[in-house]
Amino acid sequence: MKNIAIILASGKGERAGFNLPKQFVKIFGKTILEYSIEIFENHELIDEIIIVSNGEYIDLTNEIVHKNGYKKVKSVISGGLTRKDSSFMGISEIEYDDAKVLIHDAARPFASAKTVTDCLNILDTYDAATVAINSSDTLVEVAKNEIVKIPERKSFMRVQTPQAFKLKTILKAHIMTLAEKMPDITDDCGLIKYFDLCKIAIVKGDETNIKITYPIDIEIAEKILQNKKCS
Ligand code: CTP
Ligand code: MG
Repeated sequence: MKNIAIILASGKGERAGFNLPKQFVKIFGKTILEYSIEIFENHELIDEIIIVSNGEYIDLTNEIVHKNGYKKVKSVISGGLTRKDSSFMGISEIEYDDAKVLIHDAARPFASAKTVTDCLNILDTYDAATVAINSSDTLVEVAKNEIVKIPERKSFMRVQTPQAFKLKTILKAHIMTLAEKMPDITDDCGLIKYFDLCKIAIVKGDETNIKITYPIDIEIAEKILQNKKCS
């Protein structure tokens, strides 16, 4: 069975507020998108990479792919208005009947090789999985700016990507959404859970697999890279 990575790079990065989408911002001379592609390009178990990019930035994305000579990038396609649309477009691009699919945010440049391996391996026993880490902060349920509930911290985790699926399972979830008026679901595991299609396993991630969301995250990313160089 082929192992395919889909990199979601079609967002606009509005919260980051740079003059171009955050995945094209450079850290130490290399775009965040390049770091993200190289997680999979350099992983021996990954066969193909599909990049879902913003229509306006397809040329730039292709330029980045060609300049680096990435061998596993099978296609660069245009994404949709929401992450869910972009994800569906990426999945629809896969030309096999079944595959192991890892869906990854382009905005997470530091997912480790071990995390990728763990995501692929867990699909031998599960049809769906997500990387997640413990929450060091207590989480509270809030309504009208007041605390409604303080759940036990240890029963909560913070979800990251990659999220890992058997192709048939995630395709089914996306197709089911077409017939429904869906609530706002921000990730692919959310779709699986909404339709209760299967159990979703947790792959333990790590704190360095940050998502670049706000400008401060660039400074944190620089620090992570400096530490990596020293280790
Ligand atoms: N994404 C995508 N297509 C969209 C929206 C998001 O492919 N229509 C991707 C982003 O490029 C990012 C990942 O999904 O790699 C996670 O999304 P997020 O961090 O929310 O990025 P943006 O949507 O770009 O940022 P913002 O919400 O601040 O505008
Ligand atoms: Mg977004």
